[in-house]
Amino acid sequence: MHLTLLSGPNLDLLGEREPAVYGPERLEDHVRRAAATAEALGWTLDHVQTNHEGALIDAVHAARGNADAIVVNAGALTHTSWSLHDALRAFGGVVVELHLSNPAAREPFRHTSVIAPVASGLVAGMGGLGYEVAVHAAVRLAESRAREDEHDDEEERR
Ligand code: DQA
Repeated sequence: MHLTLLSGPNLDLLGEREPAVYGPERLEDHVRRAAATAEALGWTLDHVQTNHEGALIDAVHAARGNADAIVVNAGALTHTSWSLHDALRAFGGVVVELHLSNPAAREPFRHTSVIAPVASGLVAGMGGLGYEVAVHAAVRLAESRAREDEHDDEEERR
């Protein structure tokens, strides 16, 4: 099974950008960790980072029919992008929202996530560990969803 990891605006600056908030690691370190976690669980993973809202939406569209789960750290688009909300709603697979920091404990504009209503769950405030936790969660959720779908198909055939 396959997972798409999405990184939104400014996450390409991790390691340089506000290390006191986001930690010293670079995005490639987090991606490596996420990919190793996926691989250990028998999954494959691809990663897209973009600073452009439309490109992030294109990446969600590309994941349709291709990925079984999405883990998305949308950066500040989390708080503003109804287009991303709609794209994730149309994805159909498991969506896990991910943040390095804990937005709920920060400035008020970060307290609202417009993608939360279309996410299966949220991982936040765990720094780089969150990448492992989010991949684990997405894999477990997608695998149990696949088992349920199989069960429903069997019931229908009866
Ligand atoms: C972030 C939190 C967002 O509020 C912020 O705009 C980011 C990073 C995080 O990973 O903690 O760019 O998504």
